[in-house]
Amino acid sequence: MTSRTVTVTDNTTGKRIEMPVREGTHGPPVVEIKDLYKEFGYFTYDAGFTSTASCRSDITFIDGENGILLYRGYPIEQLAEHSSFLEVSYLLLHGELPTREELDAFNQAVTEHTMINESLKEFFDGFHYDAHPMAMLTGVVASLSAFYHDAINLGDPGNRMLTCHRVLAKMPTIAAAAYKHMMGEPFVYPLNRLYHTENLLNMLFSRPTEPYEINPIHARALDQLLILHADHEQNASAATVRLTSSTGTNPFASIASGCAALWGPAHGGANEAVLNMLHEIGDVSQVPRYLEKAKDKDDPFRLMGFGHRVYKNFDPRAKVMKQSADEVLELLGVENNPTLQVAKELEKQALADPYFTDKKLFPNVDFYSGIILEAMGFPTAMFTPIFAVSRTIGWISQWKEMITDPQLKIGRPRQLYQGVTLRDYTDIETR
Ligand code: SDX
Repeated sequence: MTSRTVTVTDNTTGKRIEMPVREGTHGPPVVEIKDLYKEFGYFTYDAGFTSTASCRSDITFIDGENGILLYRGYPIEQLAEHSSFLEVSYLLLHGELPTREELDAFNQAVTEHTMINESLKEFFDGFHYDAHPMAMLTGVVASLSAFYHDAINLGDPGNRMLTCHRVLAKMPTIAAAAYKHMMGEPFVYPLNRLYHTENLLNMLFSRPTEPYEINPIHARALDQLLILHADHEQNASAATVRLTSSTGTNPFASIASGCAALWGPAHGGANEAVLNMLHEIGDVSQVPRYLEKAKDKDDPFRLMGFGHRVYKNFDPRAKVMKQSADEVLELLGVENNPTLQVAKELEKQALADPYFTDKKLFPNVDFYSGIILEAMGFPTAMFTPIFAVSRTIGWISQWKEMITDPQLKIGRPRQLYQGVTLRDYTDIETR
């Protein structure tokens, strides 16, 4: 069978080039353009990578038109309903759902790395009380690279897996430590007898002064939220981790670059921005005024939690999260939560407004997650650190996939130069 190609013709020179097409198991085929410059003298240009595949991957597939999200082929809805975050972490990392023995071994391997070096705790003392927890998280995660020099030995499979276990295990401890520092409360050590998500809740909310009972509603809702945020193909933070890691740098430093990218309000910082927006709107009567602000090109206000680069239909995670928000708030007896009422009215009116539906602006994963976290007692500044605790498994799974790819090359994009052309230096006295 002849291999599929695409022909590009330069209509000024008449020169033609055949470029090979590569097929995926899901999703659109890709045109392999690596020889375009060598044979045709052209770069391609795609600011923001709206239609550029930067890598090949077996981990996560998104169909933006049909609202489909698969982790290693399993639909996110099924995983959110039946699985656990640790089991999903095993799936993303290893490619298959674990047997009971494999899951128990994985749980043990992660649990034994939940502590951070005692001297890392002192790093938090250097931050002021009002430091944003994402600033603390990003800084401390990067500092892990100062403690694990063996992580640079990327050729050793045992070291690679140890690094995966370490960063998955320590992210909750670091996120909780940032929260405790922000609250001025004592740091809480991880307890190995607790399951991953319950350990996170205990490190966040327990205090030496009284017993802390883990609320099973909180534990299940948080575990499901971690499943929904675990990976999302080449989102900005995962792409950042890949580009950083392509230089062979310490993987903890790469994960810190992912934290930095996630923090932005256009990405993982949107969940915090959604709650701030809902609080600013304050009441359902103000929803029409804010929808008009979002439509006004001269107004920088955007509907946070709406729109997505890939989902041009609904975000399947938002659907699950909306149902979970209803259930959790009802179970917690706060179903009349004014923030939830504003969110539902905002969604209802936006989805009835052609401005938003014509631009394919639907609620994304961040629109409802903050409402659940707020109802569970999280301050808005902690929403993105919780997103980072989840996305860590996506980042490190993609790091492992990339670092073991025989075709690994350092990422080095080119550019369209439109600056000043050639000119000579002039002496300062003559300028
Ligand atoms: C996440 O990539 C991922 O997979 C990310 C993520 C993951 O799991 O990793 O899914 C997590 O980051 C979700 C997105 C969270 N961000 C927000 O909720 C912030 C609000 N949304 C927008 O900033 C925006 O929709 C983006 C950043 C999400 C997507 O931006 P795009 O794809 O670059 O789209 P765009 O900015 O070109 O917008 C297209 C049009 C523009 O209008 P025109 O210039 O065509 O007239 O839609 C408008 C925009 O002005 N628009 C919005 C809007 N989002 C886009 N108008 C009002 N409110 C919005 N939220």
